[in-house]
Amino acid sequence: MTAGLVTVAYIGASILFILSLGGLSNQETARRGNVYGIVGMAIAVAATVFAVNIGDYTVLVAAVVIGAAIGILVASRVAMTQMPQLVAILHSFVGLAAVLVGIASYVDPRAAFLGVEKTIHEVEIFLGVFIGAITFTGSVIAFGKLQGSISGRPLLLPARHALNLVGIVVCLWLGYEFLGAADHGAGVIPLLVMTAIAFAIGAHLVMAIGGADMPVVVSMLNSYSGWAAAATGFMLSNDLLIVVGALVGSSGAILSYIMCRAMNRHFLGVILGGFGVAGGTAAAAAEGKVVATTVEETAAMLLDARNVIIVPGYGMAVAQAQQAVSEVTSFLRAAGVNVRFGIHPVAGRLPGHMNVLLAESKVPYDIVFEMDELNDDFPDTDVALVIGANDIVNPGAQEDPESPIAGMPVLEVWKAQTAVVLKRSMATGYAGVDNPLFHKENTRMLFGDAKDSVDEVLRTLKK
Ligand code: TAP
Repeated sequence: MTAGLVTVAYIGASILFILSLGGLSNQETARRGNVYGIVGMAIAVAATVFAVNIGDYTVLVAAVVIGAAIGILVASRVAMTQMPQLVAILHSFVGLAAVLVGIASYVDPRAAFLGVEKTIHEVEIFLGVFIGAITFTGSVIAFGKLQGSISGRPLLLPARHALNLVGIVVCLWLGYEFLGAADHGAGVIPLLVMTAIAFAIGAHLVMAIGGADMPVVVSMLNSYSGWAAAATGFMLSNDLLIVVGALVGSSGAILSYIMCRAMNRHFLGVILGGFGVAGGTAAAAAEGKVVATTVEETAAMLLDARNVIIVPGYGMAVAQAQQAVSEVTSFLRAAGVNVRFGIHPVAGRLPGHMNVLLAESKVPYDIVFEMDELNDDFPDTDVALVIGANDIVNPGAQEDPESPIAGMPVLEVWKAQTAVVLKRSMATGYAGVDNPLFHKENTRMLFGDAKDSVDEVLRTLKK
């Protein structure tokens, strides 16, 4: 393939990736965005493969077929609730690839750079391997924490910040040695030692972060994996990899920032760790009686209502209640009730979690609103139906300055005439904080698995 054709293919793929990101930012265009991404990646892979004259493609084709088969199998089996783990482990591959490509391109005897070019190439290698190594072990630990195979508690070694700092300083010195090495043989040692230290830094950084902050860490590692890919692009003089790496790096960083803001956490605080202990300190115990309700009472309230806002949370995903919720919504809308959904930016366990579930079960897009779009409407709402949500509707975030989630924006469901909360018990949510909502005078608790409860409500409504 001529160089000109490859460049055209790369520009086409870059445009498709940008269109893909644009499409993915809105649920109505997300499917199209996905298609753009797939087509862009297919073009990119094909152009890259045919750009170099490999001669014998057997090994490459075998590797692609095996890799694709594993990818298809894993992606088709993964449950929605396990998506963060899958994303974490995929990032680890990007990191490992950057490490391997970096080391390989350094020891490649055909690399014949001289003078300034040589120095630039080696800086690219060193940086790419460093970021890749941190991304690799960081992602593996994040995977373990999300999967539950590693404890979610933050590991707080004494002087941990100093330890990281020493590691980075030693890496800088190794970089100096690496660049000054007379020949390849002498440069390999500092490169490998730095790799080992960067592996340790990556693992330590993420070990220090608590389970509750893990989704932010995953999106941050997503950003790192992008920068690692961009560094690899520089190493290999591959423009497309640089563009894609920069897109992934910056979008991951923006997403991490948005998530931190929605959880009222400082970005640096999350990265430096030591927070987010799942089941951590509870706020002052809430006062007031807890009033349970029944399926019949709930169905009657819904049918009598003019305005209903449904607030779904992680429990709806666990119970897989979205289809039943969608059917109740259709029924109520047909009966003339104005039903809308209020989505908190960090409802569930990954960005857009609730939007995906609702779209999957065919809830119309135009009745699904962001928190800010309808938070002022609760006083005019007859019933706020909270389905498996907890932290995102906790009034303590506004009322109790001592609460660990103080300052986090929340959906003000308690301002509705009645708030009905569907959950199994009085257990806390992810932040491990008691919820005074359950004790408010106008709150009714409908205990039970969300899917069973919503199914029952639907059956009662139909009667
Ligand atoms: P949570 O606060 O975690 O509450 C979920 C509730 O669902 C639990 O209290 C649980 O109570 C209930 N539940 C679980 N399984 C259920 C089932 N089968 N049927 C009915 N209820 C069930 O969820 P949320 O309100 O969606 O808030 C999300 C939390 O995750 C926030 O703290 C947020 O900061 C954190 N987080 C989210 C993200 C993203 S990006 N979404 C990222 C990082 C952290 P029972 O056990 O009593 O049933």
